[in-house]
Amino acid sequence: MSIDDAPSDVVSSDPNAEGYREFDLGGFHFRRDEFFAHISWPTGYHVMSIDTFLRALQRDVAWDFFYGTVNFDHVFGTVNHYGTVDMFAGRFNEAYRKAELDHLENYETPLIRDTFKAMLDDWTIAGFDPFASPAETATPFGAKAGSNTAAVTRRRVTAARMVGVPGDEAVRTDETHPINRMFADVSQDEPEVHPEPGFENEVAAFNLFAYLSRSDVTWNPSVVSVCKNSLYCPTTEEYILPIVHGNDRVEWFVQLSDEIVWDVQDRDTGAARAKVTMRAGDVAAMPGDIRHQGYSSKRSMLLVWENASPELPELIRTGKASVYPVEF
Ligand code: PHB
Ligand code: FE
Repeated sequence: MSIDDAPSDVVSSDPNAEGYREFDLGGFHFRRDEFFAHISWPTGYHVMSIDTFLRALQRDVAWDFFYGTVNFDHVFGTVNHYGTVDMFAGRFNEAYRKAELDHLENYETPLIRDTFKAMLDDWTIAGFDPFASPAETATPFGAKAGSNTAAVTRRRVTAARMVGVPGDEAVRTDETHPINRMFADVSQDEPEVHPEPGFENEVAAFNLFAYLSRSDVTWNPSVVSVCKNSLYCPTTEEYILPIVHGNDRVEWFVQLSDEIVWDVQDRDTGAARAKVTMRAGDVAAMPGDIRHQGYSSKRSMLLVWENASPELPELIRTGKASVYPVEF
C-alpha cells in the first residue's frame, strides 16, 4: 500500500502551481513552493526554508513525536502527550506569548501522524534524503520532481534486547551498510563470544563503534540495547541537529568520538542557558526543563541515553522528580 492509499482523514489539495499538494490540519494550513514551507493559522503566518522544514518533519515522523517538544525552529513545532500531540506556533517563544499571537491545537496522534507522513512523502523530491548529511544528499529545492519514498519511510532500528542477539536487530555488514567516508579509520574487529551451551540466546556482544561507522543517517538515535526503561540510543552526527529538542525528562549524552557543540536554552522561553562543548569521552546530563540543539563539524558518534518511563513527565510536572539527575 502506498502512502496515498493509506486510510485516514488527511486533508490535502490537488497539486499547486509548483506541483505540491497543500495540507490542512485543524486551523493550520501548509504549502510548499520551490524554496519554502509556508505555515498559516487563524491569527498568523510563518515561513521556513524547505530543507530545515523537511529535515525536522522527517525526524518528528520517524520518532513518532519523540520525548516532549520537537521545535522545528523558534516558532513552529509539536509536543508529544503520548496518545495526543499538540501542534503549536509561537507557544515557546516569549515575544509571541507576550503579544498573545501564539496558537496551539491538540490532535489524536494518528491524525497528525498520517498528515505529517503524507506531507513528508509529497514534499520530498527525488534525490533528497532528509536524514542524510547535507554533504551526502541532493538538494530539496525546486518544483515537484519525483519522490523518495524509500528514504522517508526507512525502518528505524529499535532493538528489543540488543543488536546482535539472535532474532533481534542484526549487526551491519558491507553488503547492507558500507563504512561511511568519515569513519574509514574505525576498527571493524568484532568480539569473540563463547557462550556456555544453553546460553547461546542470552550472551551476545558487538562492536558499537563499527556498527555506528556504517550508519547512513545523521541525527537519528536508534535503540541498540534495552534494559527495562533504559534505552541506549547512539547516533552519528554531522552538521546541525534539525530540531531543537525540548525535554520532558533528563537525557544523558556520552560523546563517543570527535566533538559536538550544544546550544542549551530555557525550554519555555528560548532564553540562552548554556553553551556546552562535548569532546570524545565527555558525559553530560541535559536537564528536564531545557531545549537543546547540537552542531557537529566532523561526523561524530554520540550515545543518547534515554529513560523511557512513561511516568516521568508527570513526576517532573508535579515536582515529584527533579529536572536534574543529581544535586551537588
Ligand atoms: C536530542 O534531542 O537529545 C537528540 C536528538 C537527536 C540526536 C541527538 C540528540 O541525534
Ligand atoms: Fe534531547
